[in-house]
Amino acid sequence: MAPSVADVKSSANLDAVVDKVADLKLANKGHSNMSSRDHRIPFYYPYYDVNEKFPPTEIFEYSDPGLLADPSKPNLLAPSTKLHHLSPYLGTELSGIQLSSPLPAGLNEARALYRRAQGSRIAIARHFGPIQRHPTSGNVKGYPEFHVVYRDAERDRVVSYRNFGEKVKWTSWHSDVTYEKQTPGTTFFFILDQPESGGDTLFTSQVEAYNRLSDSFKARLIGLRAVHSAVPQAELSARNNGPVRREPVETEHPLVRAHPVTGEKALFINQGFTKSIVGFKKEESDALLGFLFEHIEKGADFRVRARYEKGSVVVWDNRVTVHSATPDFDPAQGRRHAVRLTPQAEIPIPAAET
Ligand SMILES: [Fe+2]
Repeated sequence: MAPSVADVKSSANLDAVVDKVADLKLANKGHSNMSSRDHRIPFYYPYYDVNEKFPPTEIFEYSDPGLLADPSKPNLLAPSTKLHHLSPYLGTELSGIQLSSPLPAGLNEARALYRRAQGSRIAIARHFGPIQRHPTSGNVKGYPEFHVVYRDAERDRVVSYRNFGEKVKWTSWHSDVTYEKQTPGTTFFFILDQPESGGDTLFTSQVEAYNRLSDSFKARLIGLRAVHSAVPQAELSARNNGPVRREPVETEHPLVRAHPVTGEKALFINQGFTKSIVGFKKEESDALLGFLFEHIEKGADFRVRARYEKGSVVVWDNRVTVHSATPDFDPAQGRRHAVRLTPQAEIPIPAAET
């Protein structure tokens, strides 16, 4: 069962200690006397243990905290909050907010925000559901809830891992870990270190991607299901001598899902994990997915580009967006270090025809 607000408050003290220890280690380490091989935030340096194993994920009850929110967002949009909409469809930049324990009522009202927020990271994320433990990525020793993103001049797995030398573009559109039966919802990304330019993230609205389609095409998509697979990710990790902490799963999800709070319909497919349409022959499936992937990838008018600085916090709803890193910076010129906390949400709700 998902934690109640009371549960989160009672566990917040422990989580606050964890984050304080991390920040203390950072403060004690300092920057000036470190060699170029030192990482600036050692607590969050990516940790890989090929012997680390997780059991299969279990189903849990889930109710989205957004259902408790006042749609007018009186807590989030306090007089001190500065707000800037990046586009009409998605992306709002907020500053002047405090994400700290005890958890503020405004947290339920947040669906898309970023920019300099402080607070106990695990407690905040756990408010939105049990945090997924990634089966293959770097995590934090003793804290497998953290998914670590790290790239510097000495450690640049991105380029070799993804075979960028063979590709003409380096974007990779996906929603996170959609092979899970209960896919992530409100997802948090904390920027610990960031190059001066580059290393942005592109986010595209799957709601608007769906809305742009004709009524007759939408009607054909409603009711379809697609297979999301963890197998390629596990195989890639194994090939690179990385961990496979959990047996990879393949899960069927509705191709169009409904948001549990807003009722919005959204495409729910992504190039990273969606492999086929259930009941279609291969050519049919490839053709339909190919069209939809291209539609999403080319949707420059329902996309935003999130630029970061050290201390930025990004929150996105993984149910209704896809995203891609832009690994365009030279890591010799600047390091990128971030951690993601990925709360799992409801089993995707199939959208109904209206
Ligand atoms: Fe991602």
